[in-house]
Amino acid sequence: MCGIVGFIGQRQAAPVLMEGLEKLSYRGYDSAGIAVLDERGKLLIRKEEGRIENLRSVLVKKPANGCAGIGHTRWATHGKPSRLNAHPHTDEKGRIAVVHNGIIENHEDIRRKLGVSCISQTDTEVIAHLLGALYDGDMQHTLLRAMKELKGSYALAVLCETEPEKLFCARQQSPLVMGFSADSGEGHIASDIPALIRHTRDVLILHDGEAGVVTREGMRVVNADGAACHHPLFHVGWDEASAEKGGFAHFMLKEIHEQPQALRDTFACRKGDWLPISKQEAQDMQMVTLAACGTAYHAALYGAYVLEKLARIRARAEIASEYRYRDVPVSENEWFVAVSQSGETADTLAALQKAKAMGMRTLAVCNVVGSGMARETQALCTHAGPEMAVASTKAYLTQVQMFLMMAITLGGMRGVISPAEAEERWRQMSLLPELATRTLQTHAQIERFVSRLQGCEHVFFIGRGLDYALAMEGALKLKEVSYVFSEAYAAGEMKHGPIALLEKGRLVAACITQEKLADKMISNLQEARARGAQVLAVCTEGLAERVRPHADECVVIPDADEYTAPMLAAIPLQLFAYSMAVARGCDVDKPRNLAKSVTVEEW
Ligand code: AGP
Repeated sequence: MCGIVGFIGQRQAAPVLMEGLEKLSYRGYDSAGIAVLDERGKLLIRKEEGRIENLRSVLVKKPANGCAGIGHTRWATHGKPSRLNAHPHTDEKGRIAVVHNGIIENHEDIRRKLGVSCISQTDTEVIAHLLGALYDGDMQHTLLRAMKELKGSYALAVLCETEPEKLFCARQQSPLVMGFSADSGEGHIASDIPALIRHTRDVLILHDGEAGVVTREGMRVVNADGAACHHPLFHVGWDEASAEKGGFAHFMLKEIHEQPQALRDTFACRKGDWLPISKQEAQDMQMVTLAACGTAYHAALYGAYVLEKLARIRARAEIASEYRYRDVPVSENEWFVAVSQSGETADTLAALQKAKAMGMRTLAVCNVVGSGMARETQALCTHAGPEMAVASTKAYLTQVQMFLMMAITLGGMRGVISPAEAEERWRQMSLLPELATRTLQTHAQIERFVSRLQGCEHVFFIGRGLDYALAMEGALKLKEVSYVFSEAYAAGEMKHGPIALLEKGRLVAACITQEKLADKMISNLQEARARGAQVLAVCTEGLAERVRPHADECVVIPDADEYTAPMLAAIPLQLFAYSMAVARGCDVDKPRNLAKSVTVEEW
C-alpha cells in the first residue's frame, strides 16, 4: 500500500509530484522519492527516508528541474524503510526509473535469472533491472513483455531516458489511473484519484494486464496482446476530502473494503521458507505464547486455537499488559510471539523484551516494517497496508490469516497434518479474497437492521470455539466506535451468570460458523429470545436454514471451511459496529479517548 504519481507537461514536474504525494500520504509514509527527466534528458533521482517533508527539504537543497517525472510514497513491505529502499529504483545503466505498489512474488527468481546484484532490499529494483534487460526501444512494448515474467500484484510507473516525451505505466491487481487535460497539455498517472483530482476529474482506469502511456498530447492503453483499449473515462464526482477516502465516508469503511486485497497480499508472502522456523525447531516446539493488546489479542486467541488444532502445539494467548508483570514459568522450547498492528504498543513491546530476557525464542506479527517490534525480533509482516482508522479492521483480519498460515506450515513441518490436508487448507485460504468481497455485500442489510434498532444500549456477543474469539472482537469493535456497551461471552457461559442480564431491549449478536457447534448455539438463541432479547445471527450459508427461525435478523456469509469462515464472519461484525457508530453520530475514525497507537504504558 504505497502511493504512485506521474506528471508530464510544460511546467516543472517536482512541485506537481510533491503535491500528489502529499495527497497520497495516507497510503504510506515511511519514505518518499521522485525521478525527473532534466532538459538534457537525464534522470535526476531524489529520495529520503521518513515523511514527505523530508523529501521536500532534500529538494530545497538539491532541486530536480524538468517537466516529466514520477514519484512514490512508500509503506515498506520488502526491506526496511530507508533512503536506499525508497523508490524510484533504476536499472543497471541508470536510464530507467521505476516506482511500484504491490508485491513481486518471484523477485528472487528473476534476480537470479538476470544475474544482477541489487543495491536495495526491495522487490521493485528487480523490475527496473528486468525492464533494462528486455528494453527494445519501445517501453510500452517492453512493459508487456516484462509483465509476462512478473508474478504478484503491482502498479508501475516508469520513466525512461531514451523516450523522454512519455510516461509509462502498467497494472496487475493494484489500482492505477491516468488523466489528461487537453487545455494544459498535461498528463498524469496516479495510484489513487486524490492525487490528480486537482488537475482533471475525467480519469482512465487501467485494467489488469494493461500498459499505458501518457504524453503531452494524450494517453494510450494496450492490453496484454498489444491491442489498443478504448476505456470510457470515469468522471469523479467526489470532492477532494472524500477522494482521499476513495469515495468512502470514513477510513474505517474504506479499510473494511480493502480487506480482500489485504488478504490477497498477505497470502502472497507464503512462498519458500517464509516462516523463519527450521523443521527441527518446529518439531521441538513445546509451547507458544502469543501476547498482544486489544484487537491484536483477539487475533492471538484465534492463533492459539489454530496452533493447537492444526499444528498440535500447546498455545495460549496472553494480554500483554498482564503478561509483562506476571511471573510465568517458561518451559523448554517455548516460543513467544508478539502481535501488533503498529509494532509499537508499549505493553506488547515490553512483554516481548521480557520474553527475550527469559531466553524464549521470539517472533513478532506486525503490520509495520521497521517498527519497534520488528527491530527487536524477527517479524512476520502482514500486508494490510497503512491503517488510518483507530478501529483496527484489515490489520486484524490479516493477523488472523497469518496465524492460520503459521499453523498450517508448522502442522506440515511437524508431520501432524498430511500434505493433502495442508493443500486443502491453502486452497480454502486462496478463496478468501473473493469470498470476502461477497461478504461485503451484507452492508445494506446490516444498515437496515441498525436503522430498526432504536435505543439499543446493551449488546452481548456470543460464540463457541473460534467463534468465541470472533465474538470478542465484535464486542470490542462495537464499543470502541459506537460507545454502546457490549461484552462477549463464550456461549456456554451464558447460563452461568450473564443470562441474568437478558431482557427486552437487549441484543444478542451470535456468531455461528462452526458446524459441529451449531446446535448448541441454536439453543443459546432460543434461551435469549425466551427472555425477550433480540437476536442478530451471523452464520454461514449452509447453516442459514437452521439458524434463521431463531433470529430476528440473520446475516449470511458464504460457506467456507471451519478456519476461514470466522474470518469472513468478522466482516459483518465490523460493518455492524460501523453502521451503529454512523447511526449514533459518532466520530467513526477517531473515537473518543482512544489513540491509534498506544506507545506509553498509561496515558
Ligand atoms: C483496535 O480496534 C483498537 N484500537 C486497539 O484495541 C488496538 O488493537 C490495540 O491498541 C493494539 O494495537 P496494536 O495492534 O498496534 O499493538
